Amino acid sequence: MLEVEVLFDTLIRKAQIVDGTGAPAYVADVAIKDGKIIAIADAMAEEAAEVIDARGLCLAPGFIDVHTHDDLNVIHNPHMLEKISQGVTTVIVGNCGISASPVVLAGDPPDPLNLLGDQSSFCYPRFSQYAEAVSRALPSVNVGALVGHTAIRNNHMDDLQRSATATELDAMCSDLRGALKDGALGMSSGLAYGSAKQSSTDEVIALVKELGVQGAVYTTHLRTEFDGVIDAMNEAFYTARSGKVPLVISHLKCAGKGNWGRSEELLNHLQAAAKHQRVACDCYPYSASSSTLDLAQVTDETAIFITWSEPHGEQAERYLADIANDWNVSLMDAARRLMPAGAVYYCMSEDDVENIVSYPRSMIGSDGLPNDPHPHPRLWGAFPRVLGHYCREKGVLSLPMAVHKMTGLSAEEFRLQNRGLIREGYCADLVLFDAERVTDIATFVKPRQAAAGIERVWVNGVLSYQPGARETGRAGQFLYRQS
Ligand code: ZN
Ligand code: CU
Repeated sequence: MLEVEVLFDTLIRKAQIVDGTGAPAYVADVAIKDGKIIAIADAMAEEAAEVIDARGLCLAPGFIDVHTHDDLNVIHNPHMLEKISQGVTTVIVGNCGISASPVVLAGDPPDPLNLLGDQSSFCYPRFSQYAEAVSRALPSVNVGALVGHTAIRNNHMDDLQRSATATELDAMCSDLRGALKDGALGMSSGLAYGSAKQSSTDEVIALVKELGVQGAVYTTHLRTEFDGVIDAMNEAFYTARSGKVPLVISHLKCAGKGNWGRSEELLNHLQAAAKHQRVACDCYPYSASSSTLDLAQVTDETAIFITWSEPHGEQAERYLADIANDWNVSLMDAARRLMPAGAVYYCMSEDDVENIVSYPRSMIGSDGLPNDPHPHPRLWGAFPRVLGHYCREKGVLSLPMAVHKMTGLSAEEFRLQNRGLIREGYCADLVLFDAERVTDIATFVKPRQAAAGIERVWVNGVLSYQPGARETGRAGQFLYRQS
């Protein structure tokens, strides 16, 4: 029998194209071949191995989760169902100062590096080894990686409760240079955490200058997100300017009841800085945060939910106040006894979250914690929640703008080439969804649930998610920094 060669691998017909630029949607056919978007036109000939009638559905660039802690998850759990089921096709790992590489551990990983895994899972002293391990694991999503400031501090310092000495800083710079040469996208810091809080601004600047030289980016979990947040933003602006690098402020928020209502002030401040330097931020669409249990955040003003505890596993999934009550001790004493532990902090106001989610320069990042036995629902629901709750139900941002903040803006800020837009020649990372139905299903009570309304997801042209389908491919690539 004669084989007729088909023109395209996949042809997606008559979807509403939300192209990632923020421009209004339009109807067209999109053709995929060899991992790329090769044609966008109306009414193409149906010469494709697979033709999909997408009338009534939206086709967007695959979502880019710019804030993750999936460093080891992409290797240990390469199906990445919690992300691909949201329409996420790329994750940026290594945020908040913590990364899986380049890391050499002398003992247990310090808090919050322990969010990623235990000592045995840190086996990538060189960034190139990590990149190769990701490629070997073949995750369903593409992976770009930052180097964590705390991670490289811990490589060279015997005590994290101080600033690095000149010799230590030299060694840290050399780790960072090596990783950048091997393709890291940039560096993140987590200056609010005890393990980095004592590092001076000068220590961070010395490292950020390495980023500037190689055209990489700097992301920061600010030194504080509570009352002193403006000062902390100023430190970040100054640090980034000193190194001549683009800045991304991680999970921008107004934390702590005394701080509620200040989102406009924060955003105006960010907007003013954006006149002089390249700055953006990321955020997750929830008014509760989550991390390791941190004594500095223990308060009776807002609820704290314990998700895990090493010494007191039996207290997991309970409120700290109830545990303290049962034990007949103060909140602080109860927290001390529970540590190391994980927590969800109900520390934000809904109005502030709305303002920050709808701000044009904020990107969406889940900040999901895949190793948490009872994770914050953002791990499974962040992206659909923006599209369903904030966009469709509350109407605080338009659909093209919401998609832009998950795709085009994200690719631009993290300098990911040929991704984040629906354009001819771009990589075929695509998500087909129903804008009327898309909804996050994951809740604080039942957090591990796939979203509704995500119909199909392609990564590098390969169908990688379809609800109910058993057989889908895995085609994620490691995204090396390109100059
Ligand atoms: Zn953080
Ligand atoms: Cu984080």
